[in-house]
Amino acid sequence: MAVVPYKNQKTSKKEQVATMFNNISKRYDLLNHLLSLGIDIYWRKQAIKLLKPEKPKKILDIATGTADFAIEALALNPDQVVGVDISEGMLEVGRKKLRRLQLDNRIELQMGDSERLLFDDNIFDAIIVAFGVRNFEHLEEGLKDMYRVLKPGGSVVVLEFSKPHSFPFKQLYNFYFKYILPAIGRIISKDQSAYTYLPESVQAFPDGEAFLKKLQAVGFKNTLCRTLTFGISSIYMGKK
Ligand SMILES: C[S@@+](CC[C@H](N)C(=O)[O-])C[C@H]1O[C@@H](n2cnc3c(N)ncnc32)[C@H](O)[C@@H]1O
Repeated sequence: MAVVPYKNQKTSKKEQVATMFNNISKRYDLLNHLLSLGIDIYWRKQAIKLLKPEKPKKILDIATGTADFAIEALALNPDQVVGVDISEGMLEVGRKKLRRLQLDNRIELQMGDSERLLFDDNIFDAIIVAFGVRNFEHLEEGLKDMYRVLKPGGSVVVLEFSKPHSFPFKQLYNFYFKYILPAIGRIISKDQSAYTYLPESVQAFPDGEAFLKKLQAVGFKNTLCRTLTFGISSIYMGKK
């Protein structure tokens, strides 16, 4: 059964995920940096670095949320960065951030579903997604559509939580992730479920080799996986 944020609701995972991110959008950045002690910023930088040799000019950031990954992508000096997301609340926080940083002329944020991207085939040099794929209702549909809009020779970079394996880090981390993080998340975000959904969705998500197989199944080649910070997160890369 799919892991969803609000278990007693009958709506689809996609609707629940959009509602959840709308609910927490105003506190999302604060909680991200607080709960990860700022390591999330380093993870995004590491993921973007992998694209440096390719000098992508047209970049699509899927599940862009409040645009942090899209902003990080500007380090690649692209001509165009577009971010899409299904949560209007997250996009609104992102738009305000871009205006504040005077980056609204360099990054365009649009409402859009990863499973039905409103772009022609073969138009982006790179597709990037940070902490998004785990939330897709139909993972394979999302990956297929990324492949469709990517130019032949272009790359996909996915950053996502994974499961640490080594003792005693695994045990300490699991305790933090299952008990402490949901409690802090609940108090600050005021959403009862969002930060319980986080560890549950990570637990259920295919990481490492299993995720590489998903990328390969939709056509990506030269796939690789780099683990970060004892395996709390992983970067996946593939080519069309
Ligand atoms: C954890 S946030 C990540 C935001 C941002 N990428 C970052 O690095 O902070 C996940 C985002 O995925 C979006 N999302 C979930 N399913 C989606 C879908 N099918 N299409 C587009 N965005 C989606 C959510 O609305 C949310 O903003």
